[in-house]
Amino acid sequence: MEACNVPRTHNKRLASATNSSIRGSDVIKTIATDQLAVGMYIHDLKCSWIDHPFLSNQFRIKDHDTIRKIRDAGIVEAYIDTSRGLDVPTASTDAPAADNIVATVTDAPAAVSEKPTAKLSGPIILPTGLHAEEVRRARKLHQDATQLVGNMMADIRLGKQIEVDQCEPLVDDILDSIFRFPSALLPLAQMKTVDEYTFQHSVSVSALAVAFGRTLNMPRDIIKELALGGLLHDVGKAQVPARILNKPGKLTDDEFAVMKQHATYSANLLKHTKGVSEIALMAAAQHHERYDGSGYPHRLKGAAISIYGQMLAITDVYDAITSLRVYHNGMPPTEALRKMYEWSKTHFDPSLVQAFIKGIGIYPAGSLVRMESGIMGIVRETAQNNLLKPVVKTFYHADKKCYLDPKILDLSTVHDKIIAHESFEKWGIDQARWL
Ligand SMILES: [Fe+2]
Repeated sequence: MEACNVPRTHNKRLASATNSSIRGSDVIKTIATDQLAVGMYIHDLKCSWIDHPFLSNQFRIKDHDTIRKIRDAGIVEAYIDTSRGLDVPTASTDAPAADNIVATVTDAPAAVSEKPTAKLSGPIILPTGLHAEEVRRARKLHQDATQLVGNMMADIRLGKQIEVDQCEPLVDDILDSIFRFPSALLPLAQMKTVDEYTFQHSVSVSALAVAFGRTLNMPRDIIKELALGGLLHDVGKAQVPARILNKPGKLTDDEFAVMKQHATYSANLLKHTKGVSEIALMAAAQHHERYDGSGYPHRLKGAAISIYGQMLAITDVYDAITSLRVYHNGMPPTEALRKMYEWSKTHFDPSLVQAFIKGIGIYPAGSLVRMESGIMGIVRETAQNNLLKPVVKTFYHADKKCYLDPKILDLSTVHDKIIAHESFEKWGIDQARWL
């Protein structure tokens, strides 16, 4: 039975200090501070002594209060000495009982491939420390890409040219991040601020398009062009008057007609930008066309819309309805996918929508879910061959209304199952803290 825990603060600051002499040892292990337990011996907190509240860098953990102090200091990883204290438990290979939870704790960098892989079916369960590192890198990438789009749109307003060379390294980074571990960048894409919505939306559409292209087994160079199209698809909004673009409410018919021109503006801008391929141009120019011919600007129908335009249309709509907007809260991903499925009868090619859902999962990474046992958690990883049984990071008990020690639960290996998607707002849970 799970014991309740006191809610705690997770400052995601990564320790800067490293020690090469430590890394080579068998008994010294790097573990995430999420995995610390009473009885372990801290060999090093991976930070300067000034950054933690203890008299020494080395000590035995005698109580939970010590663990709390380490985490509250914002330390996310530490070295433990297994010759002087407890080791981390190893993941069980037996099928656990209903409320038995598998903790993933080993630090095995070899499990992560830096290269794109066509193996899409099973989940990649990253050890906690590596997962934290992936999320940290994804967060930085998301910030940099958002800033780049913001700067480009500011330049367009000043009449300057778009410089595609500036985009390429970041587009490559988006591809690398999604191919390596999609569950780090995609949940971040869901979270948006009102001020930066347009720029963040562009980054999200780009990241989702990469995940989509990967699901369809498209070649990397094609996905790269699609990702660039995603990043630039709304640059035409820079030419829409700010009073319409940022209006905090529903647009009038006349205002909406002006807003719709952004698709044409984007196409014209990109047509005259050096380094923008035909694929990127088509994807951006057609992102508001609809399969049944009801879209704009050209009311293209069916196969007259390129597959790239169709893919961006799906990612654009999915991101728009799941995001916080100026005038409404985002729809939970499961509800959004249901809507997408409905619209696939008219607005989208149904087979493409099915592929998109297969790629991101019925319970996409970053979703909050409740299990039959009452345990709640955030979806960490989905498996394409088992969409109903993702890997979940559990941390809360819905019935007892208390926090639990965070653990990684692979639902394909236990009897517990998801019974509901939950809202972060309703439970007062900060999504970013648990990614
Ligand atoms: Fe758009």
